[in-house]
Amino acid sequence: MSPNRFTPSKITTHVLQEMKLRGEKIAMLTAYDFSFATLLDEAGIEVILVGDSASNVMAGHRTTLPITLNEMIYHASSVVRGINRALVVVDMPFGTYQGNSKEALNSAIRIMKESGADAVKLEGGREVIESVDRILSAGIPVMGHLGLTPQSIHKFGTYVVRAKEEHEANKLIEDAHLLEEAGCFAIVLEKIPAALAARVAIELKIPIIGIGAGGKVDGQVLVLHDMLGITTKFSPRFLRRYHNLSEEIKGSVSAYITDIKSLDFPNEREQY
Ligand code: KIV
Repeated sequence: MSPNRFTPSKITTHVLQEMKLRGEKIAMLTAYDFSFATLLDEAGIEVILVGDSASNVMAGHRTTLPITLNEMIYHASSVVRGINRALVVVDMPFGTYQGNSKEALNSAIRIMKESGADAVKLEGGREVIESVDRILSAGIPVMGHLGLTPQSIHKFGTYVVRAKEEHEANKLIEDAHLLEEAGCFAIVLEKIPAALAARVAIELKIPIIGIGAGGKVDGQVLVLHDMLGITTKFSPRFLRRYHNLSEEIKGSVSAYITDIKSLDFPNEREQY
């Protein structure tokens, strides 16, 4: 049987937990709109992340910081309308959960109520644990995100590999345990040494999803526009490109322009 077969049964956080127990890897991709979400769901993806990377790939910002809660809810509700089966996780945007757990809860409730998504994701460990606790206490599933946390780009200054130094690695392990103890259902580890990610995946019971964190974790996530080759300027080592869609799209558009200018389109059969 094909490993990416479509089954209509809805993926829940419990299904992901069972997949970890069985040793079955979890496949996650980002999506930001109805059309792509429909395709991903039909192809059998287990988790769709409405990432705040929408700020980069959809809106053209240099960082993930400018995207707003309303914009994230717009993207998330478009994605939710396209799916039957995948678990939909929505990134809480910068400034909607840090330092104020009441505001964090209000933001998470708005995401869940207005988009119909299944869970939220937020970046950080100990420094956001009060917000994580409060959101979880309202019955909203939370996914953590440690390692490279793009919303803190102005603190770190670069997008280089994180937690290479012992003290940073120790903090990451401690934060991962804190998030698990708080009740997070999974954690994304971004751009950290593979051995460290493998250790976290062994020590924790909840699924660990990696991006640039090696193969010894419980699942993988990539940004859809990067793996399809729609974006071309971003080429980190961890990115596998499955397509060169930017060239295909430009080729199709240029053929369309040529057909119009040469009076080839529309032809007799393409008119009423
Ligand atoms: O916003 C995003 O796309 C993400 C992934 C890179 C994990 O957080």
